[in-house]
Amino acid sequence: MSDLSPVAWPPAPIRTARLVLRASEARDRATFVDLLASPEVHAYLGGPRRRDELERELPEVPERWPGSFVAALDGAMIGQVLLRRATEHRRPAAVGKADLGYLFLPRAWGAGYAAEACAAALDWFDGALPGEPVVLATQSANTASMRLAAKLGFTEVERFHAWDAEQWLGLRPPAPPVPS
Ligand SMILES: CC(C)(COP(=O)(O)OP(=O)(O)OC[C@H]1O[C@@H](n2cnc3c(N)ncnc32)[C@H](O)[C@@H]1OP(=O)(O)O)[C@@H](O)C(=O)NCCC(=O)NCCS
Repeated sequence: MSDLSPVAWPPAPIRTARLVLRASEARDRATFVDLLASPEVHAYLGGPRRRDELERELPEVPERWPGSFVAALDGAMIGQVLLRRATEHRRPAAVGKADLGYLFLPRAWGAGYAAEACAAALDWFDGALPGEPVVLATQSANTASMRLAAKLGFTEVERFHAWDAEQWLGLRPPAPPVPS
């Protein structure tokens, strides 16, 4: 995976009904540690990273790269939405395409925040890189993620086996061009 360079970055903060999407900042570092060290968040993602290792190794401003959005509620980070380029992928259908990922703190689950943030990030993507589809891979056992993918307009391309689990590859077709 690589970032979405050469897209213009960081964008102006994006406001949704309840959230702000923005590039990461130094004040988000402790939340990134919580997010990346959380066993619940990584239940379907191959397991969490060690907290002491993250405390030591995360840069002062973590995850600041084109396509990495922090979702903030009342100014405080509650999750990350990632749009990356799948330069390499296990499935040929995904190679070269933009790939959506999302990680939210467990205390922010079940309130529609992930759906709200991802929809806004995809709208930004449609404006930044018009005419491009987006793919998404998730374990099919990750029911919250599967529901979110469907809500965001992803439909199944294929299922495949990797990392000891069934994976689901979905695709969101390009948004239709805006009439001029
Ligand atoms: C995947 C993940 C982001 C989903 O989070 P989530 O909070 O369940 O997702 P949503 O934002 O869609 O919210 C879901 C629920 O909030 C409820 N909700 C409550 N208030 C709401 C509101 N105002 N608007 C919309 N939904 C609302 C809805 O009922 C919805 O439930 P439904 O899906 O059964 O309809 C979260 O489980 C997570 O971070 N998991 C760990 C990381 C991971 O596995 N990522 C996948 C790898 S790509």
